[in-house]
Amino acid sequence: MTAGLTHTWEVPSGDGEICSITVGRGIGNAAHLGAESRARVAVLAQPSVKPQADQIAADITASTGGSALVRVMPDGEEAKTLLIVGETYEWLNSIGFTRDDLIVGVGGGALTDVAGFVAATYLRGVDVAYLSTTLLGAVDASIGGKTGVNVNGKNLAGVFRHPGSVVIDLDILDRLPAELRRVGSAEVIKAGFISDLDIVDAYEADGLGVDLERVVPAAIDVKVRTVVADFRESGVRAILNYGHTIGHAIEVAAGISHGDAVSIGMVAAGRIAEEMMGFAGGRRQREILERIGLPIASPRVDMDRLAALLDRDKKRDSEGLRMVLLADFGQPVLKHVDRDMISLGLEAVGLSVR
Ligand SMILES: NC(=O)c1ccc[n+]([C@@H]2O[C@H](COP(=O)([O-])OP(=O)(O)OC[C@H]3O[C@@H](n4cnc5c(N)ncnc54)[C@H](O)[C@@H]3O)[C@@H](O)[C@H]2O)c1
Ligand SMILES: [Zn+2]
Repeated sequence: MTAGLTHTWEVPSGDGEICSITVGRGIGNAAHLGAESRARVAVLAQPSVKPQADQIAADITASTGGSALVRVMPDGEEAKTLLIVGETYEWLNSIGFTRDDLIVGVGGGALTDVAGFVAATYLRGVDVAYLSTTLLGAVDASIGGKTGVNVNGKNLAGVFRHPGSVVIDLDILDRLPAELRRVGSAEVIKAGFISDLDIVDAYEADGLGVDLERVVPAAIDVKVRTVVADFRESGVRAILNYGHTIGHAIEVAAGISHGDAVSIGMVAAGRIAEEMMGFAGGRRQREILERIGLPIASPRVDMDRLAALLDRDKKRDSEGLRMVLLADFGQPVLKHVDRDMISLGLEAVGLSVR
């Protein structure tokens, strides 16, 4: 891939609208967000990216004389509450926001989830664009149209709403703190394991120092292809859950980051796939995850709690727990997995069931 190339996807949202996704350098501005032609733009931003949000607002005012106001939202999950949604509606009302105006969400997945939810529901739906500023946001949260807030359980309330445009500026992602780059890499390498061997090769060669210009557009392509396929053939989207069944239970039980949990979940799924499907890539998968700095074993957890979390997942499907397993890299299959196999997977990440 040549340096400085811009990648664009025009993704049908299933309801006749198009979501355009653009990845490039130096593109985190009003023009790429489709914000310049609007009379009024409400920019919702995470605290850490307020300078970018201010710049976008300044662009809009300077270029068209339109009004652009920035509202700094609480950070991370703190923004994903109905209370904050209500306060944001009130703010939109107070600035005279109308149906012809645009909301721009600037930040990671938590911010785009709540900005999308507000846009989907205020005045029964207004336009929204995202500048996605974390790795996880770029390759996962901003694509696919899921929005939501937390109500006791995570993401319990939400709607599908595709933004008109998603902008991913690699210059912003290149400057991410190492920890955000590390945990975000779990979703990027997951996309590789389920569907793109070039991503796998890239991380195998360079670990966390991987060229984001090589892997980010590729991982976005995996998510876009999967989401689009799911409009026709329901269920394909489930392959994106690779590493998430056991991973999510460990995330909750151990209180670790989503990226770390998905990494451990992929190791467990890899062990199960070795047994059930003759998957030969378990060792290579572990070595690549370690090279990125992601964990391949779980911290100690309350095993009863873990079992209860997995059981709750199980009840969602009357036939038992369904997991994404790899027949090989790039060949995900959805399989029913019994209790013994789950134990085997847990043992592979250091969690002894007995
Ligand atoms: N809608 C979906 O399909 C979907 C998919 C996956 C995850 N999610 C959601 O995404 C959220 C997780 O996203 P996340 O990992 O981006 O977390 P996040 O949005 O909480 O951001 C993590 C931290 O990074 C900071 N940050 C953002 N951009 C930065 C930058 N450029 N430089 C420095 N710091 C920056 C934020 O202020 C925050 O403190 C969760 O709420 C999850 O539920 C949604
Ligand atoms: Zn995930």
